[in-house]
Amino acid sequence: MALYAYLEILLIPISVIFLYFLMIRVQKKSSVPTNWPVLGMLPYLLQNSHRIHEYVTELLTGSNGTFEFKGPWFCNMDILLTSDPANIHHVFSKNFSNYPKGPEFREIFEILGDGIFNADFELWEFHRKTTLSLMTQPTFYSLLERNIWEKIEKGLLPVLDGFLEKGVDLDLQDVFQRFTFDSICKLVLDYDPESLSVDLPYIPCEKAFNGTVEALLHRHILPVMFWKLQKWLQIGKEKTLMKAWKSFDEFIYPLVSINDGVGKDCDGFNLLKSFKRKYEEIKNCSSSGDSRKFLRDTSLNLMFAGRDTTSTCLAWLFWLLAANPSAEMKIRQEIEDELHERENKKWRNFSVKESKKLNYLHGALCESLRLFPPVALEHKAPIKPDILPTGNHIPENKMVVLSFYSMGRMEMIWGKDCLDFKPERWITERGGIKHEPSYKFPAFNAGPRTCLGKEMAFIQMKMVAATVIYHYNIEVVKDHKVSASDSIVIQMKHGLRVKLSKRNVN
Ligand code: HEM
Repeated sequence: MALYAYLEILLIPISVIFLYFLMIRVQKKSSVPTNWPVLGMLPYLLQNSHRIHEYVTELLTGSNGTFEFKGPWFCNMDILLTSDPANIHHVFSKNFSNYPKGPEFREIFEILGDGIFNADFELWEFHRKTTLSLMTQPTFYSLLERNIWEKIEKGLLPVLDGFLEKGVDLDLQDVFQRFTFDSICKLVLDYDPESLSVDLPYIPCEKAFNGTVEALLHRHILPVMFWKLQKWLQIGKEKTLMKAWKSFDEFIYPLVSINDGVGKDCDGFNLLKSFKRKYEEIKNCSSSGDSRKFLRDTSLNLMFAGRDTTSTCLAWLFWLLAANPSAEMKIRQEIEDELHERENKKWRNFSVKESKKLNYLHGALCESLRLFPPVALEHKAPIKPDILPTGNHIPENKMVVLSFYSMGRMEMIWGKDCLDFKPERWITERGGIKHEPSYKFPAFNAGPRTCLGKEMAFIQMKMVAATVIYHYNIEVVKDHKVSASDSIVIQMKHGLRVKLSKRNVN
């Protein structure tokens, strides 16, 4: 055992030096990578790690949607990359029971503990049923609407007006992240940290999400022993991840510990309190058997689900609209045509009912999700050997990476105009919303593990987007560089710097 550990430690620096010289030779960017002895195709992956989603898309486009990536020897890093809808349907739905999240997934996402994203089988069923039953309570959507509007009125609009008065530009992605962080904390923990306030306070837990999603992608790219060594040495992205872990714990534990209340029931609804009650039923399925840890995991998973996804989609939407002003005009026209009532208040309020009438805006959000699906990829490994519809043989435990990002950019799925932003794609001839099957459009995942917050996300995104589009003109700062981050959630690497001006709407 000890000898094996020494060998691993020796192998690492030797491989790094070898890799370095090899990478100098490898200058080709996008052609099919060579499968080198010992290192396999890893040098190409590392060389392109700063543009990983683009690189995977190039590989998949050049290979009809499915590519066998060969990793270094003895690292268990051979991966099947796919963006083929038939494979997505097979893995997520038809042969669902053969593709649990499994131990490797859990190891990579260890920060999420026993929460829903890591859970399989009985524990997953418990999480899913409990969360679903809470989200389908009659009071859920009225509470959600009230919370969203309060955050818009007391957080979003004053912050945007503050920037407007000062005449300086702002990072719209940061503003949306703060919005969704406060909203999900209020919903899950019944506590609003007010990160979206005029002085934009620094709250370590709110910022910790960004470093975490980057480190988690890093763990997909590096051989396990490399990131474990980094973790042990506390360097690089692993150091960031451990700091983030601490920030999450310091934020969440005191809240789950407050008495047994975590605040009072609002309208008879409190997510965490309900989980607390249900916890007794699941004690034996949770590996730790520690109720505080279980509630910390449950809350953190829901915070991840609610913070990064919606804010990312909104940021890309505004960037896409800035590049497509005619689409933005159509959204404004839709608001004029569909929503006639105008209250004589400082701000125009958009209710859930009204937002549901905004089909063109819905189409625009779907385009943002198609081109920049916040959860850019999923990975799975079968418990029994399998053959995919594309004919690829998958031995047990081999990693299959399903690239949702690449799917939105494939001509074979979306046609020749796949790279264009066209909200019309989502509108039926009669003006309704066109349904696309989830194996073609898996932004919210597919099959039994489909996202539980889809409806909630659309409500929130539509209320926020309609409010901003209605009240302001938004212009992306000239020369501001926008590119997708190398992380598990495709945020904008350098944020979205914009300038605002007020629209004359009264
Ligand atoms: C644009 C917004 C959103 C997108 C694109 C999105 C996407 C996804 C995706 C891809 C998954 C599968 C993740 C996995 O299995 O590893 C997922 C699962 C999930 N999402 Fe969302 N999500 C969004 C918003 C939300 C919101 C606001 C919530 C509410 C808290 C939420 C709750 C969940 C939950 C609980 C799961 C786990 C489902 C399960 O494993 O059974 N999502 N979502």
